[in-house]
Amino acid sequence: MATTDRDPGSEPMVDERAGDEFAEPARRVRRMGRVSGEDEGLSYGSYLKVPELIGLQHLLSDPPAHDELLFIVVHQAYELWFREMVFELESVRDLMFAGDPATARHYLTRVHAIERVLIEQIPVLETMSPQDFLEFRSHLSPASGFQSVQFREVEFLSGLKQRGFLSNLPDTDEERARLERRLEEPTLWDAFCDYLSASRLPMPGDDPERRAASLLEMARDRGQHAGPWDLSEGLLTHDELFSLWRFRHILMVVRQIGSKSGTGGSSGASYLQSTLEKRFFPELWALRSDL
Ligand code: HEM
Repeated sequence: MATTDRDPGSEPMVDERAGDEFAEPARRVRRMGRVSGEDEGLSYGSYLKVPELIGLQHLLSDPPAHDELLFIVVHQAYELWFREMVFELESVRDLMFAGDPATARHYLTRVHAIERVLIEQIPVLETMSPQDFLEFRSHLSPASGFQSVQFREVEFLSGLKQRGFLSNLPDTDEERARLERRLEEPTLWDAFCDYLSASRLPMPGDDPERRAASLLEMARDRGQHAGPWDLSEGLLTHDELFSLWRFRHILMVVRQIGSKSGTGGSSGASYLQSTLEKRFFPELWALRSDL
């Protein structure tokens, strides 16, 4: 694949990657954009598209509510991190399929670091008081984080595929196609099972008892199965950190809007409570009880 001089954000992700989901990660990184200063006059701002980036915050309140800029910047920062997470999780999945657990584990550690940032970022938005939020909240409806396509990509890639979310998406055909593709694609769990099977720990899709026995064998003999065990712990940490974000988000929601319904039309905090039981890798959690 030749190096491209396209800007990473200039074209839909689905076009960049279509039909090439299993490309080796480093090749995909190169494809995301030029990495050196071949352009005459390359500068910090032109490389990172800073003028474009800081021109992307359009307030709806008029006169402008002071805290709306913060609200937009925080959400945009989340979407940038989601973009990186989706890329890394794809890489982790593909590396497990390719039989390279060490590099997969390396990128999984990066995902954990990003997830910690996502959790730590919440207090920034909590410097907004509920009264100040009310100055512009009415303009937001019916938009909601519920419609975040990249958030659903993280869930789908990690194994939580729920087609129902597609019906709540008012966004572009390209985004819908991306989610459709994620629904068809293998997940992190599929790739981990494939890697375990190749490591003489069979994980047949139609035999839960055999899968539980393989996981138990892995956990009981960590000396023999150090690679698979380490990777399974990395996956579990991803699951745990994502759940911690869900908990933290609910606390922020209650702090901001109490028991009011969401701008997306849900019951608000009580809908969000119902998501707390979601797990990417239930079999890794169940393994604890079998030990
Ligand atoms: C003032 C701050 C916030 C409030 C009051 C808030 C409120 C809500 C509410 C009520 C929902 C439920 C859906 C609905 O009816 O709208 C929701 C969902 C969601 N929000 Fe927030 N939110 C806030 C900040 C954020 C931030 C900073 C993010 C970062 C991306 C975010 C991401 C999400 C996501 C991904 C969902 C869907 C969760 C799921 O379905 O599992 N929210 N939010």
